[in-house]
Amino acid sequence: MCNDKGQKMIILYNGCNERGAAMQNTEWWKQTVVYQIYPRSFKDSNGDGVGDIPGIIEKLDYLKELGIGAIWLSPVCKSPQADNGYDISDYQDIDPLFGNLADMERLIKEASDREIRIIMDLVLNHTSDEHPWFLEAKKSRENPYHDYYVWRDGTPEILPNDLKAAFGGSAWEWVPECGQYYLHQFAVKQPDLNWDNPKLRQEIYKMINWWIEKGISGFRLDVIDQIAKEPDRKIMAEGSRLHDYIQEMSRETFQRADLITVGEAWSATIDTAKRFSNPDGSELSMVFQFEHMVLDQQKGKEKWDLAPLPFVEWKKVFTKWQQGLHGKGWNSLFLENHDLPRSVSRFGNDEEYRTRSAKMLATVIHGMEGTPYIYQGEELGMTNIRYDIEEYRDLETLNLYSERLQQGYRESEIMQSIYAKSRDNARTPMQWDDSHNAGFTTGTPWIRCNPNYTMIHAKAQLIEEDSVFHYYQKLIHLRKTEPVIREGSYEPFLEEDTDVFAYIRRLGRERILVICNFTDKELYIKELQQWEKGKLLLGNYREEHDRCGLRPYEAKIVKEDAQ
Ligand code: GLC
Repeated sequence: MCNDKGQKMIILYNGCNERGAAMQNTEWWKQTVVYQIYPRSFKDSNGDGVGDIPGIIEKLDYLKELGIGAIWLSPVCKSPQADNGYDISDYQDIDPLFGNLADMERLIKEASDREIRIIMDLVLNHTSDEHPWFLEAKKSRENPYHDYYVWRDGTPEILPNDLKAAFGGSAWEWVPECGQYYLHQFAVKQPDLNWDNPKLRQEIYKMINWWIEKGISGFRLDVIDQIAKEPDRKIMAEGSRLHDYIQEMSRETFQRADLITVGEAWSATIDTAKRFSNPDGSELSMVFQFEHMVLDQQKGKEKWDLAPLPFVEWKKVFTKWQQGLHGKGWNSLFLENHDLPRSVSRFGNDEEYRTRSAKMLATVIHGMEGTPYIYQGEELGMTNIRYDIEEYRDLETLNLYSERLQQGYRESEIMQSIYAKSRDNARTPMQWDDSHNAGFTTGTPWIRCNPNYTMIHAKAQLIEEDSVFHYYQKLIHLRKTEPVIREGSYEPFLEEDTDVFAYIRRLGRERILVICNFTDKELYIKELQQWEKGKLLLGNYREEHDRCGLRPYEAKIVKEDAQ
């Protein structure tokens, strides 16, 4: 069996791969929509207050109904949970919080029966400090595992340099047994792996192949641009050997099967993304880039330093990525994930126009070229949360709070930043129904539910024809039936307009227009006269009353009849 690059593919036990071949398109991931599950907040099956794998299995029919083709599962491997699973202590076992290996195998099988593939989260930049490799590595400099991590000499008083960790404080931690510091780009409990060690790389590839053989259809690669760090030169992302390592990993693992691979790469530019997502398949399928996610903050500062969204600049970022990768790479399309606030609260209106603006935001993203990702609850228009500080659970948020208090910030100012940007905004329990704790758990949830669950929940939206859920369903269907959405070129429309996000997609003689009102005002757009004869494929108001009119947060997809 060959893929489109003529490379030999191993046929693995994987129901999906067999079907993939029948579809005669190995790039199934260009045709599908992915749904991200943050397991601890999705569905609890055993009443311990934490979501789990059997809970996910219970909800597969819901996801099938939505129409998605793959699930990206945030980490479920064994972990002390210092960073909710992004600190792995055993890559080849499941954390008892979430179930066991048999549950995972059942999830793969039950999902496959519904034509849904499972994408795992691979955290390869670091492990937990409780991983057996690290427990060995920190015993002495002579230990065979010592070099699996990144060490530098120093004295307890003198740090190797002033590198900072992403979650606050120095990136170096002293280990007296070795008389050395280890590097941690994230929390102290997340020591960085040393990718320059070929033995470590081989162990990782073996582990990845083990998961592929279990029927996993792809991987999301956590902070993959940071694996080839060069701490002495203070280079954390895009180290000089990064693409060599990714190509080697791809050859030794991903290219053996028909997988989707998506790397998280905060540093990505159009040029590096062309390498990461090279259509020759030598690296990954695509990356998550974040240029559209860092504009509503003060330039050169942190995400907590809030600034209004520069709307026109934001639109231009999308144009740049859409045009820059067309035919030369592949985009991932998203407005939310487990690290980001809820999009309807951030870019829409989560009060009077919540439903309308949630659908409008979905239209902007799902009309573009690339693979769309929906984050759990986004399909219901779930919103941000405001807790008292004691109720936050995320270590990044809690560290920020104490750091800024020490630095003399006013508490109210810190809380404004947290309300807007805390990762816990996206981590409140999934809102299934209006029963106690949103139908998420029969116990006490690990993090408090958003009280608006009595109003915003899946049960009501499955019944209501006009719900955000059903709108997502229609968008997913449209991508399947309209090749111009999957493959067409992208041209901005009304690019300098400060209220409207619009673009044209073109494939052969077909043209579609996507136009969205980002305000609560009624607008009249005379340029829409040229589209008067077009057919309305989808809109977020029940009826269109005027082709040139845009009501508050109105979104339309209009198709021009082929001449
Ligand atoms: C990624 C994950 C985030 C995690 C971090 C460290 O950014 O998405 O949740 O905290 O990596 O693994």
